[in-house]
Parts: sequence; C-alpha cells; structure tokens
Amino acid sequence: GPLTIGIDIGGTKVLGGVVDSFGTVLTSQRRLTPGRSVRDVEDTIVELVDTLSAQYDVAAVGVGAAGFVDAARATVLFSPHLAWRDEPLRAALMERIAVPVVVDNDANTAALAECRFGAGVGHRYVLCITLGTGIGGALVIDNKVFRGQNGMAGEFGHMQVVPDGHRCECGNRGCWEQYASGNALVRDARELVLADSPVAHDLKARVDGDVSRLTGPLVTEAAQAGDPLAVELLADIGTWLGVGLAGMTAAFDPSAIIVGGGVSAAGDLLLGPTRQAFARTLVGRGHRVEPSIVGAALGPDAGFVGAADMARSAARRSRRRR
Ligand code: BGC
Ligand code: NA
Ligand code: ZN
Repeated sequence: GPLTIGIDIGGTKVLGGVVDSFGTVLTSQRRLTPGRSVRDVEDTIVELVDTLSAQYDVAAVGVGAAGFVDAARATVLFSPHLAWRDEPLRAALMERIAVPVVVDNDANTAALAECRFGAGVGHRYVLCITLGTGIGGALVIDNKVFRGQNGMAGEFGHMQVVPDGHRCECGNRGCWEQYASGNALVRDARELVLADSPVAHDLKARVDGDVSRLTGPLVTEAAQAGDPLAVELLADIGTWLGVGLAGMTAAFDPSAIIVGGGVSAAGDLLLGPTRQAFARTLVGRGHRVEPSIVGAALGPDAGFVGAADMARSAARRSRRRR
C-alpha cells in the first residue's frame, strides 16, 4: 500500500508522521499547538504536511482533531480546547494540500490504530480512552467506531462526575476530564507549588520556582524519579480514571480498555491506581469477566498512525473513482 501522513492535533501538541500500510512510522515530527487561532492551527498542519512530504512520496493525509467531528467527517462542530466552531477543516485543508485529506476526532483515530495494529487486535468490544489535555474516547464495536447521531459519540470526558465541580473548558462544571487528564495533573501540581507546600519542593525545584513551566511530562518524570508527591498526583488521576472506567464498563461491558494519550506515558504509576479503583468500583464484580485495562501499544503515536491509516482507505477510494 502507499505511504500516508497522519496528523494528531491535541490541545497542547501536534504530532505528525509518515506511516506505511503496516502501521510502521517512518518518520515523525512534533510541534506545539499554536495559540487558539483556527488559522494558525491550519498553518501548522500545512507546514507539517509540507515538511513530511518533502521526505516521502505520500498518497493522502489524515487528521485526528481534538474536537467534535461531524458524521461526514469534514467539519469540526465544536472543540473545548481549540477555536473550532462549525469549522469546515477538511475543505480548508483540501485547498492547501495536493493529496486527499480526511478528518476525524483524535481519540477515534487513536482507537482505529490500536484496533488495527495494537492492543485492540482480536477484541470485538473495545473502549479507548486518550488522556491528554482532556479525555478523548471511542467505543469500537467489531472494528467500527460507534458514532451516534451527530458523529459526536464518545465524548466521555464531558460526563459530569462532580456536581458544581471544576469549571471545564467546554463550559460546564465537574466534567470527568477535569479530574483525570493532563490538565488536571498540571492544575493540581501548580496549586501545590503555588501554595509553597513543603511536599512540593522537588517539583518546585524542577521548574526553578516558575509554575508556568510545570507540565504533565515533568510531573511524570518526577514520579519516575521517585518524588512522592508526583507519584501521589498521578495516583489521584489514576483513581479518578479507574472509577470512571468502572462506570463506562457498567454501560458498555467492553472486553478491553485501552488507555493512550500523553499521560499514559506514566505507565503503571497511572494504571496501577486505575486498576485498583476499577476493581473496587465495578458493578457486578465477582460475577463477570472483567475487561483488561492496558496502555496503548502504539503509545503517543496512536492518534497519527490511525489518522494515516484512515487516509490510506480514502486514497484507495479516490483512486477507484478516477
Ligand atoms: C474533547 C474531545 C477530544 C479530547 C482529547 C476532549 O476535551 O472534547 O473531542 O477527543 O478532549 O483531545
Ligand atoms: Na471520540
Ligand atoms: Zn467538559
């Protein structure tokens, strides 16, 4: 099969790569998500595509976007973290990119990659969660993403878990992603450093006292180096994740739960507490086969690998049409 490009646009970073038909990443690039302007994000995508296609001959481009993508997979109807509002992203990119372009939600593309090449292979009912700036989600049944009426299904991160809880970027309060995500991790870490808590001295030293430099990966690094506060912060996130996943399992009874996205790089520092909270919370425990909770096999690449794979099918379709 031909080579294609996948681009994963998150709330914090943009990842792009050239991928072959076995899901192998030939090269990849990373950019910060530019501000909140629609045009700047578009420019970043086009620049990445230009850079990557200068190195390889590619047949199509797939974009996984952190937002609610319509059923026609052309328009980003809404995004909590980015400026897209009824944005015809596919058409806008088609004007600036020479090969066919397809668009989908970022968690959907990650789920497709995991089901085709990763931890979901062989499972009929897969629940995928991506933990980044927010919580992304996808329910995959027999290798098909369940899309719902608007194409918006899978927005699990915006289910309310705490009445009157933290304000979410979607406009509501108490959304699950305010308690289990990279944003939640950074918010809690910054709060403790700002309060000059004695337990936060290691984190504070890592950023020379400048809380604005505190990021999710930095907390994970501190946890891996054994800082007890960082370990605890990740465990909090993991616990919220586990309780939420028990709810998801009550609803959908999946056979595998795959956790990807940037925060999942913390591995068992996150997923250990997740599994414990899940086991304590799941309804009907002891009377059911429980799903395994595993990290994404493709790690942080899953989003763009899935987008590239989706683009490959689109390239095939457009060749047949010609
Ligand atoms: C958005 C989703 C997105 C997820 C991960 C959520 O806040 O609503 O559309 O998939 O973040 O980026
Ligand atoms: Na989704
Ligand atoms: Zn929300």
